[in-house]
Amino acid sequence: MFTSDEIRQKFIKFFEDSGHTQRPSSSLVPEGDISVLFTTAGMQQFKPYYTAPENAVRDFGTKNIVSIQKCVRTGDIDEVGDSTHLTFFEMLGNFSFGGYGRKEAITYAHDFIKKELGLEISYVTFYKGEGSVPRDEESAQIWKDLGVSDVREDGSDVFWGPTGDSGPCGPTTEIYCKNADGVDVEIWNIVFNEYFCDGSREKLDKGEATLKKLDVLGIDTGMGLERLLTVANKFESVYETDLFNNEKTKEERIFADHVKTSLFITSDGVVPANTGAGYVLRRLIRRAVRFSKNPLAEEIKKIKNTYKNVYELDDKGEIEKEESKFRETLEKGMKEFEKGTDPFVLATTYGFPIELTEELAKEKNIQIDRADFDKKMSEHQKLSQTASAGMFKGGLANHEPATIKLHTAHHLLLSALQQVLGKEVKQKGSNITEERLRMDFSFDRKMTDEEKKKVEDIVNENIAKGLSVVRKEMPREEAEKLGAEMEFGAKYPDMVSVYFICETSPRRVASDPLLQNEREVIPESYISAEFCGGPHISNTKELSHFKILKEEASSAGVRRIKAILE
Ligand code: SER
Repeated sequence: MFTSDEIRQKFIKFFEDSGHTQRPSSSLVPEGDISVLFTTAGMQQFKPYYTAPENAVRDFGTKNIVSIQKCVRTGDIDEVGDSTHLTFFEMLGNFSFGGYGRKEAITYAHDFIKKELGLEISYVTFYKGEGSVPRDEESAQIWKDLGVSDVREDGSDVFWGPTGDSGPCGPTTEIYCKNADGVDVEIWNIVFNEYFCDGSREKLDKGEATLKKLDVLGIDTGMGLERLLTVANKFESVYETDLFNNEKTKEERIFADHVKTSLFITSDGVVPANTGAGYVLRRLIRRAVRFSKNPLAEEIKKIKNTYKNVYELDDKGEIEKEESKFRETLEKGMKEFEKGTDPFVLATTYGFPIELTEELAKEKNIQIDRADFDKKMSEHQKLSQTASAGMFKGGLANHEPATIKLHTAHHLLLSALQQVLGKEVKQKGSNITEERLRMDFSFDRKMTDEEKKKVEDIVNENIAKGLSVVRKEMPREEAEKLGAEMEFGAKYPDMVSVYFICETSPRRVASDPLLQNEREVIPESYISAEFCGGPHISNTKELSHFKILKEEASSAGVRRIKAILE
């Protein structure tokens, strides 16, 4: 049986013996190429050398490199769980910047597979040519000369690159071997970087980018270690190799794959976040949680053990933090999903990444309105930005601490007025300065001294209780359903920010950047809920003693209170 250690060593030795110098794997977070989230190929750290091959000797003392590169690819995430697709894999690669050409590159691959490992090549492919790129007859002939009889032409699948928003690219030849089931598995891809593309692959395919011939042919090869081990050992799947624990079901496999990828990514410094690499990480962790009740910590331990001689892995507790946060809301969120709850609410309240909701929907044959979600999300983000930039509605004159405290007192006052005078009391206007608050509210007579005293007492009791003040963004209809207070006549957007004042600190979906500023789920019980842009203090105990200065008529059916914190 071939072990991963053995194959890694054989590969490096084979290429060192044929004039290559080993370079270490680069980080999974690409340095210097902001157009890609993760390192997806061994060539990525060498991208600049294809256009300036003379620098290879200057920087590495050689034109020929061999490496084993950690790679993450999430493009095929839906395929994970089958016998060959993984989101993390190791890529064995040899690279040349003018040191050799097609014949050597193909011969090395052939010899490594056949002579070193004693494997049979099932078939190989070559590029049939399209547009300005000619048919790669030369590669086809080299294979035939080496005695490989099944040489198949192929189209755009065997034109590789560029990675990111521009870069080297060119025709490839792929090598397939059979697994235990007799299924052909692609194990090695040899790219002939003959062109520089001034746009992304997407643009190239749409005819919006152009290819420029490079002066020097570059070689870029990549072989997936996990797949090679599979065919070399005549296994059926990558999960039988010593890099896994023989996971059998699709769920177990997704779990093992995603936790591994998460561990490698966090070890390279990525933390769960709402955008970019951090968001991919978040999705991976949450998807893993969805597919297994097993604690991720146990799986992490196994993975660390598997790679203990090869990679230093440490997630610094980030994965478990993310896991426990999501496990808390997963069950509730699943129930909400079953009820047909809006994907936006699932995302912002239950932390369901839209991709997860889409996946659940697909399983149930339900349509998700992605455009609607995107619209709400972008409003939500605008609202968060607006709130954190301190632009808000509600008559708050400035952001002095005294003003912010009076703002919170204002919410407590409305709630106390409703308690004493009746739920029909509505806010009609407000104005807050550093010195005092002023509230206009609907009520048709003068308040008695007793009522005023009662209102003051309730506000002061609530201050003394140390109630939490939490902000939550939600669709307007949702907030209306909860009965959140809104100012009469005011126009509110589809997404609103609501402040709750509640007895018990609600369960935290702590620091979930999917939830941006509003870090809490909707509290189960609260004494106040108001449409409001903030800002507020976070606990009522920060307020001092509340006192009503004046209660007077404002206009017909509207009273006005001026109050202070002393
Ligand atoms: N860059 C090519 C690939 O990723 C070959 O290494 O498949």
